Amino acid sequence: MSHPNHVAIIMDGNGRWAAQRGWSRIKGHKAGVRSVEDVLEAALAEGIGHLSLFAFSTENWKRPGQEVASLMALLRMYLRMFRRRFIEKGIRFHHLGAIEGMPEGIQRDLKDLEAATAAHPGMVFHLALNYGSRLELVQAARRCVEDGLAPEAITEEALGARLWTGDAPDVDLLIRTSGELRLSNFLLWQSAYAEFYVTETLWPDFGAAQLREALAAYHQRERRFGGL
Ligand code: FPP
Repeated sequence: MSHPNHVAIIMDGNGRWAAQRGWSRIKGHKAGVRSVEDVLEAALAEGIGHLSLFAFSTENWKRPGQEVASLMALLRMYLRMFRRRFIEKGIRFHHLGAIEGMPEGIQRDLKDLEAATAAHPGMVFHLALNYGSRLELVQAARRCVEDGLAPEAITEEALGARLWTGDAPDVDLLIRTSGELRLSNFLLWQSAYAEFYVTETLWPDFGAAQLREALAAYHQRERRFGGL
């Protein structure tokens, strides 16, 4: 079996990783950004076509204000830092989520980075921010109505094309770190036939070697898509 074309990751455990060291949660998020860098490089090296990371959910606003503010500041820094790398390596950047709910500066950076990398032929890096799968489905349904689709024209293809993921392929491998056995409203539609891989490793300890382990586990699976 070939490598998965679309790998999606629910990055979990930054807070626990920091708490184990007696550090603030934000230090865990900073360490988490290093893992994002490592995994991005490893995914490129492995020839993965699409990498989707769940960075901030529609529910994450419930966290303490200081943690949310620090995450936004980290995100801003990260988007700027990675601009050159995306251009050098031909990576296409794409954001998923209701970005109109993000701070204005970040909205600008996201649109800018997406436009600057739109023609890139390489891996597509999808970053989910203010993302929730149910909200994505609701907005896709609304778009079908806005586009004047007749009921019989509302097909899986028509709805799928109006999701934030657009023409990205379905998720082949969905990874979740830190042992949680939940989807947490991430890519519900797109993961209909995804293989799940859950590891106890906390996100800041997840890097190239751990991604390769997940890929090796994927290769052991037999995908039947409902057939025999
Ligand atoms: C999960 O750990 C992590 C998040 C909710 C945020 C993910 C953010 C990063 C990896 C860093 C920022 C990323 C970018 C792209 C700038 P948690 O806080 O839920 O940890 P816990 O489950 O141990 O509490």
